[in-house]
Amino acid sequence: MSNEVLENIKSRRSVRTYTEQQVPAGDLNLILEAAAYAPSGMNFQTWHFTAIQDAAVLTELNEKIKGAFAKSDDPHLQERGHSETYCCYYHAPTLVIVSNEPTRWWAPMDCACALQNIFLAAKSLGIGSCWINQLGQTCDDPDVRAFLTRLGIPENHRVYGCAALGYAPADAPVKEKKLVAGTVTVIR
Ligand SMILES: Cc1cc2nc3c(=O)[nH]c(=O)nc-3n(C[C@H](O)[C@H](O)[C@H](O)COP(=O)(O)O)c2cc1C
Repeated sequence: MSNEVLENIKSRRSVRTYTEQQVPAGDLNLILEAAAYAPSGMNFQTWHFTAIQDAAVLTELNEKIKGAFAKSDDPHLQERGHSETYCCYYHAPTLVIVSNEPTRWWAPMDCACALQNIFLAAKSLGIGSCWINQLGQTCDDPDVRAFLTRLGIPENHRVYGCAALGYAPADAPVKEKKLVAGTVTVIR
C-alpha cells in the first residue's frame, strides 16, 4: 500500500549538483508556503524564510562563510575557508535561509520541520534540494552577521539551516537509500 505522499517522501534524495536553471517564482512561492504550514511549538511561527535567487548575493554569502571558516581552529574548516572552489550550496540557483529566535527552545525543531516541508514540496514539483548547514555554524561570525542583516534576517535570529533548491542534471544518478536497521520499536 502506498500513495503519492509516501512515494514523494521515499523518493526524495539530497541533490548536490545543480544546473543553472532557476526555480520559477510560482514554484518558489509554493515551496515557501509549504514551509510556513509546518508545525511549530505553540504555533508561534517565529521563524523567518529568506529566499535568495541572486547569484552574486549567493557568491558573496559563500565568501563570508569561507571567511568565517578561515578563522577557525579546525584545520578541515580552515582548508575550506582558503579553498578557491569550495561552495557550500553546490552552486544551486536558489537558497532558502531558515532562521528563528534562539530564546525559544523549540526553534531548531520548528526550523527542521519547515525545512522538511521545503524538501518535500520541492520534490513534488520536480525540484531538487539539499540541507545546507554551514550558515548555521557561522551565522554569529561578525562579518557573516553583518551580511545577514543586510539581507533582512532579523538580528535576534540564528540560522538553523538552509535549503539549496534547483534542478539536478538529467543524467545525475539517484542514490539508493539504505536504511539503518533497528531504528524502530513498536509496542502494542
Ligand atoms: C541536520 C542536517 C544537516 C545537513 N547538512 C548538510 C550539509 O551541510 N551539506 C550536505 O551536503 N548535506 C547535508 N545534509 C544532508 C544529509 O547528508 C543527507 O540527508 C543524508 O546523507 C541522507 O541522504 P538523503 O537526503 O539523500 O536521503 C544534512 C542533513 C541534515 C538532516
